[in-house]
Amino acid sequence: MPDSYVSKTQKSRELYERAKELLPAGVSYAIRYFEPYPFYTARAEGSKLYDIDGNEYIDFWLGHTALILGHSPPAVVEAVKKQLENGTHYGTSHKLEIELAEQIVKMVPSAEMVRFTSSGTEANMYAIRLARAYTGRNKIAKFEGGWHGGYDALHIGVKYPFDIPESAGLTTGALQDTLVLPFGDLEGVRERLKHQEVASITIETALGAGGGISTKKGFLKGLRELCDEMGIMLIFDEVITGFRLAAGGGQQYYGVTPDITVLGKILGGGFPIGAFCARREIMKRIDTLLYERPHFSFHGGTFTANPISMTAGLTTLKLLEDGQLIDKLNRVGEKIRDQLRKIFEANSVDAQVTGVGSLFNTHFTKEKVNNARAASKADKSKQVDYHLNLIANGVFFLPTHTGALSTALSQADIEKLLLETEKYAKQSKAT
Ligand SMILES: Cc1ncc(COP(=O)(O)O)c(C=O)c1O
Repeated sequence: MPDSYVSKTQKSRELYERAKELLPAGVSYAIRYFEPYPFYTARAEGSKLYDIDGNEYIDFWLGHTALILGHSPPAVVEAVKKQLENGTHYGTSHKLEIELAEQIVKMVPSAEMVRFTSSGTEANMYAIRLARAYTGRNKIAKFEGGWHGGYDALHIGVKYPFDIPESAGLTTGALQDTLVLPFGDLEGVRERLKHQEVASITIETALGAGGGISTKKGFLKGLRELCDEMGIMLIFDEVITGFRLAAGGGQQYYGVTPDITVLGKILGGGFPIGAFCARREIMKRIDTLLYERPHFSFHGGTFTANPISMTAGLTTLKLLEDGQLIDKLNRVGEKIRDQLRKIFEANSVDAQVTGVGSLFNTHFTKEKVNNARAASKADKSKQVDYHLNLIANGVFFLPTHTGALSTALSQADIEKLLLETEKYAKQSKAT
């Protein structure tokens, strides 16, 4: 990290010293830590974060990619203020949960019925439960590099080398029941699934944490056919891509419809949320009026469908529904990827810029990056160094993670990203 970061973040340094005593690694989520210590945000507005020392950062992390409209968009703030006066959490049925479910069904091609959760992890967990209940099968499958949250059954094969458990505390049963599939390789998938009975295959339509790597329409289509042939539920984890790649998410963008869709992030309009949705026939397995124990698939939770997340989400989706903001953002994404590639090339820096729509990432390698395995071969320390340099100069990415765009970004914000990248590329060329 450049020295300038330390000299201008002294209040953050002091807070980090306090945090270290209380929060393991000083943070509430390991990925939020970066060296020498993270800055502490005091407030956020539009395209920017402001730390407690008064520094400004253009935000390309956007609350884990959730804030497609930027920080505190006025329409969402207005809706939330109104709801705050009517209650923050009911624990009873209310109209907003129906309205948001209707909005999802209108926008997401695979959705006929919906259930809400409080996070994407939970939504993935209940989607797997549902797939197992519906098919009567135990095993499940996911892809190398796919990140679906910390649920045991899916917290497997996330980081290279993919055969090392991602965490202590995962049971042998969980490790044995989840097959890890090669991303983008249909023949490899077929081979791995031979003689196996799996309930579901979970895939991100574009790898988010795994490197900002797009799938290909042909691959998703092939996967769809394979699932139909083998009686497997195809689950799209659209926690990042939902309402980002298109109004109907990755399934609309790539033109392939899954059986079950998992949503989160953008859906909450800046508040905690998750959801899973599917055809009526599948979702009915959750209906306790139709199925009794042990035949129904349980789902629930204290804060599910809390009215604050519902109203913030509904307001957000209405703004995204016609796809215009999203299409515009996708065009900006295309331009940024193109410009970044040109900058690295002009300065003879070996780098691959990946991404799709309004997601992008940089991998410092000569080789093409089309899966998480290839991404893992890139020079991670350079990627961190690049992003730390950007942070020190007021452009925020989590150092090893994929960046995202919000509609709050100005032309000047984008130019600053390109300018700081150019400065970094020139400096790397010189050393
Ligand atoms: C694709 C994907 N699925 C699931 C999750 C888990 O969501 P949450 O962090 O809300 O539990 C994430 C979070 O980053 C994600 O990127």
